[in-house]
Amino acid sequence: MVSYPFVCPKCRQKLTLEGKSYLCSDGHCYDVAKSGYVNLVLVNNKHSADPGDNKEMIRARVLVMDAGYYDSLSDCIVDVLSDLPHSAVLDSGCGVGSVTGRIKDAFPDSLVLGSDISKNAAEAAAKKYKNVPFCVASGNDLPVADQSQDAVICAFAPVFEKEFLRVLRPGGIFIRVVPDVKHLFGLKSILYSTPRLNERDTDEPTGFEKIATRFVADDFTAKGEVVSSLIKMTPYYYHTKKEDLDRVFAMPSIVTNRAFEVRVYRKN
Ligand SMILES: C[S@@+](CC[C@H](N)C(=O)[O-])C[C@H]1O[C@@H](n2cnc3c(N)ncnc32)[C@H](O)[C@@H]1O
Ligand SMILES: [Zn+2]
Repeated sequence: MVSYPFVCPKCRQKLTLEGKSYLCSDGHCYDVAKSGYVNLVLVNNKHSADPGDNKEMIRARVLVMDAGYYDSLSDCIVDVLSDLPHSAVLDSGCGVGSVTGRIKDAFPDSLVLGSDISKNAAEAAAKKYKNVPFCVASGNDLPVADQSQDAVICAFAPVFEKEFLRVLRPGGIFIRVVPDVKHLFGLKSILYSTPRLNERDTDEPTGFEKIATRFVADDFTAKGEVVSSLIKMTPYYYHTKKEDLDRVFAMPSIVTNRAFEVRVYRKN
């Protein structure tokens, strides 16, 4: 019987791993999926049968991440964390786990967890990063104990500041990544005749003090299947005319750009 970092979403007691199931002392039981993640969403908290990113978006995301197109972002997060407490790190809305996996690689002695509302995302993450526990959970109901985390990461995912404050230790770190106004502007210039800048995200979480801001920005060439996958990862896929999508999908490569803002906060 191994004690596990997750807590039971029903009664908040510690979960332990027994065989292929996580159990709490009240007998609530959560089976581990074949790929290795555990679903800790209570059925009555689900808004749809398969919330979050769908399988096609996940496949696209895995391809782009595996090709290393977002490594500079993971590197920046690791660099920020290296000077801050990072013994227990939770990546909320972790997607296919590329940032989570990179943090674990950088800090192998840390307890690094990933959670996402999408079963498809948790499955892809768990298949790839066997040394990280992944769970299906909403960011507004994280299955970890109060004040158990040194840092919460939230990259391009919904922020639930009250819940992040609950799980963070006093002085804990919250790292939020948002796309900058020019993120993927190169791609938009190819898709649209009058591309617009992204709206700047001006939301600031309450209960935190901002301690740093970093920018990650550069141009890159997307080749082959990455071109269509990059588009499928974004809302542009659903908001662009088919003929424009087909025109860009037929291009062997495109030059575009990454532009992220990494905001670092400390819990007050
Ligand atoms: C744009 S992806 C970012 C994934 C990852 N953080 C990364 O940087 O690659 C956003 C993720 O947030 C997840 N998500 C959406 N709503 C969520 C919620 N309420 N709780 C947890 N995750 C959520 C989606 O399923 C998706 O995997
Ligand atoms: Zn329980």
